[in-house]
Amino acid sequence: MTQKLIKNGTIVTSDKTYKANLLIEGEKISQIGEGITADGAEIIDAQGLLVLPGGVDPHVHLDLPMFGTVSSDDHYTGGKAAAFGGTTTLIDFVSQDQGSLEENIIRWRAHAEQKASVDFGFHMNITRFNGQVAEELTTLASLGVTSVKVFTAYNNRLRLPDGEIFKVMRIAGRHNLLTMVHAENGDIIDVLVDEALMAQKTTPIWHARTRPGWGEVEASLRAVAIGAQAEAPVYLVHMNVAGEVDQLAYGRHKGVSVMGETCPQYLFFTYREYERPDGAKWVCSPPMRDLEDQVRLWQGLEDGTIQVLATDHCPFYFDGSKPIIYEGKPIAIPGKELGKDDFTKIPNGLPGVGDRLPIFWNSAVNTGRITPNQFVKITAENPARVFGLYPQKGSLTVGADADIALWDPELELEYGVKVAQHRTDHNLYESTTLTGFPVQVYQRGNLLVKNREWYGKPGMGKFLPRAAGEII
Ligand code: URP
Ligand code: ZN
Ligand code: ZN
Repeated sequence: MTQKLIKNGTIVTSDKTYKANLLIEGEKISQIGEGITADGAEIIDAQGLLVLPGGVDPHVHLDLPMFGTVSSDDHYTGGKAAAFGGTTTLIDFVSQDQGSLEENIIRWRAHAEQKASVDFGFHMNITRFNGQVAEELTTLASLGVTSVKVFTAYNNRLRLPDGEIFKVMRIAGRHNLLTMVHAENGDIIDVLVDEALMAQKTTPIWHARTRPGWGEVEASLRAVAIGAQAEAPVYLVHMNVAGEVDQLAYGRHKGVSVMGETCPQYLFFTYREYERPDGAKWVCSPPMRDLEDQVRLWQGLEDGTIQVLATDHCPFYFDGSKPIIYEGKPIAIPGKELGKDDFTKIPNGLPGVGDRLPIFWNSAVNTGRITPNQFVKITAENPARVFGLYPQKGSLTVGADADIALWDPELELEYGVKVAQHRTDHNLYESTTLTGFPVQVYQRGNLLVKNREWYGKPGMGKFLPRAAGEII
């Protein structure tokens, strides 16, 4: 069995920071301690570096078909981008297409396994509900898929009525599944979109104006309340409104098992981005909000009301008519230009899986808002716990997978599309100077990234059957 000894590094976990050596045997962490040695082991000198667990991003959309195109990172390129940013575990979504839930999962798993460059799990979207689906939900956990996502928006496409959401949650609660909720008000969005289009309001700012924050506040409380009545745990995805964080806090205060995530884009941008000539880059659902919302989201992360920082990574080219060179070959994938005359046709989503850790470190840890330990908790340990992957993932403990990011807290670089490895033509943080970046990344003991060189391959990432998650 191959051995690798990470020497002289500073280990950072959710509750401790300490100097120790870490021994990897095969794919696992086998020892951690001062003065550990191993004859014949490959020595990795981590002097001056922090040893972090690989990040866990529980919200990505890889190869997702939308509006006649597809999100431009697949399970290979998205995993590669993640790894360059220090993330080694992704959880993607299975669409409820033709056939049973199991058939959809088998099909998407086969599709992803050929390409995946980092380990991945799945959530199951429930966008159609009937007696058959109710039955299938009872055995979903046995397939290693222990979370479902439901939508209170995207009428006539993805949305379920509240009664069906209640039924899904009730089954989920009884069968070890966590229900994730996309909480917006689909009815009001439809009215506002129709009115905007009738008035020929077609620019990207109308994406934000037709999806008001109040819809999220109301729908997130509805989600919490339905969860309470179904006696089931709830997880609010992509939270971005101050009032939504208040509803999460209210639910938790009332003893409801509700947790939630926000994403970096909501911490750093506002609806004003949509007024830029390239505003379409920020079109995702829900949209960017206001400065006061940012303040509440930061507070929620700092005080633990919000448990997870995910990304909702779902990139599209800004101009997909022009190829970019990816791994030496030109590739063009239709993107945001599809909606140049109509904001409702702009594919919803943005890149972020590789940005998450360095951008958050730079703004949260370097400023002292978040400790390195909280950083590990929010970006690796908590998502692993909530989604049933802990301690295999998101932890530096003996027996855990050797998913490790060696982090140089002093490394300064100018970030942007050339550094981030997303397969798209832009980066939302272009020209931001960052301090702190991963310099080596390992997955199950295998080197993926060293000094900005890629060592991964398609198919290296394994499907992760997940256990029932924790309520934290
Ligand atoms: O705009 C987004 N977020 N696209 C992905 C789908 C979703 O609702 O998360
Ligand atoms: Zn969503
Ligand atoms: Zn999403």
